[in-house]
Amino acid sequence: MNTHSKRNTHSKRNTQGWTPAQLGSLTGKTYLISGANSGAGFEASRVFLSKGARVVMLNRNNDKSAAAIHSLKQEFGNDAKVSFIRMDLAELNSVRDAAAQILERVDHIDALICNGAIAQVAKQQLTVDGFESQLGVNHFGHFLLCRLLFERINASQGRIVVVGSNAYKMGLKRIQFDDLNFDNNYTAWNSYAQSKLAQMMFGFELQRRIEATGKQVQVQICHPGASRTNLLMDTASRFNKILWSVLQRVIAQSAEKGSWPEVMCATSEALTPLRLYGPTQRADTVGPVGECQLDEVALDRAMASELWALSEQKTGISWGL
Ligand SMILES: NC(=O)c1ccc[n+]([C@@H]2O[C@H](COP(=O)([O-])OP(=O)(O)OC[C@H]3O[C@@H](n4cnc5c(N)ncnc54)[C@H](OP(=O)(O)O)[C@@H]3O)[C@@H](O)[C@H]2O)c1
Repeated sequence: MNTHSKRNTHSKRNTQGWTPAQLGSLTGKTYLISGANSGAGFEASRVFLSKGARVVMLNRNNDKSAAAIHSLKQEFGNDAKVSFIRMDLAELNSVRDAAAQILERVDHIDALICNGAIAQVAKQQLTVDGFESQLGVNHFGHFLLCRLLFERINASQGRIVVVGSNAYKMGLKRIQFDDLNFDNNYTAWNSYAQSKLAQMMFGFELQRRIEATGKQVQVQICHPGASRTNLLMDTASRFNKILWSVLQRVIAQSAEKGSWPEVMCATSEALTPLRLYGPTQRADTVGPVGECQLDEVALDRAMASELWALSEQKTGISWGL
């Protein structure tokens, strides 16, 4: 039996699945979440605050962040420990600035949740650093952020949570190293799938490299299944927006339930490396949260190693791992 097909405590046999009801007090804990002003990131913030934790949102938009914080303080009171640091994952310099502010203001990180993303970008767009936009925002931005915060997370014996997607096993099912930006054959679907595969490969590669060094950072990889959020609404083609707005009413679960895998991965003591966590019903799109089937492509070590070296080069930083 392959390691990734084994089941543990959070398995499909556990029909209830993980829910926030299993959480005790999180008072004194600090969670950093990228893209937390809406969708799964916002809902994860709600869960953490409801348990007394501190949440630092890493968002790109000042007004949306102010509105999110206002809404959270209305729900949890003015003393709720929620704040925001501006970070645009589409600009490596913005990630560097945000990381510097975090290191100044946050002395302990229990988990960094790499949640922010864009999806199904209709036409090829490049970030200011010259990356295909989804690969730039979803992968390279987080790769740099995780590196810049790694020593603080290590000193905190904290976690990194990578929020992936079932899309990793769709599309081309590989990193297109010879045309990373899809200059020749851009499609919204293949480029999004590549970016989520890259995120997950990075997460698994980081697990393996940490294990070899004895560092104190736990890395977990999850996905929210199909959840009713704003994803696609700014970026997708008109056709895909209409299609998804109809489809999500039928096949998707709430954004709140979509947040549970990332909250579980940030807090549960019953998780194992080289696993994927998320909803476990209807092709892992909805339902009880537990361990999902993991397609072997995410564990391809040769591709992950090449991606790691490339990511270090593109972001101009070495992990020394
Ligand atoms: N919803 C689903 O069915 C589904 C399925 C599979 C995977 N996922 C994954 O779940 C995660 C959460 O997405 P969601 O569904 O909750 O969608 P969402 O509501 O659109 O949330 C995405 C968040 O990412 C932020 N973001 C986008 N670009 C950014 C940038 N350049 N810098 C910083 N933040 C940025 C967005 O900020 P703005 O508000 O400013 O745009 C938003 O807060 C993503 O990783 C996504 O890939 C979702």
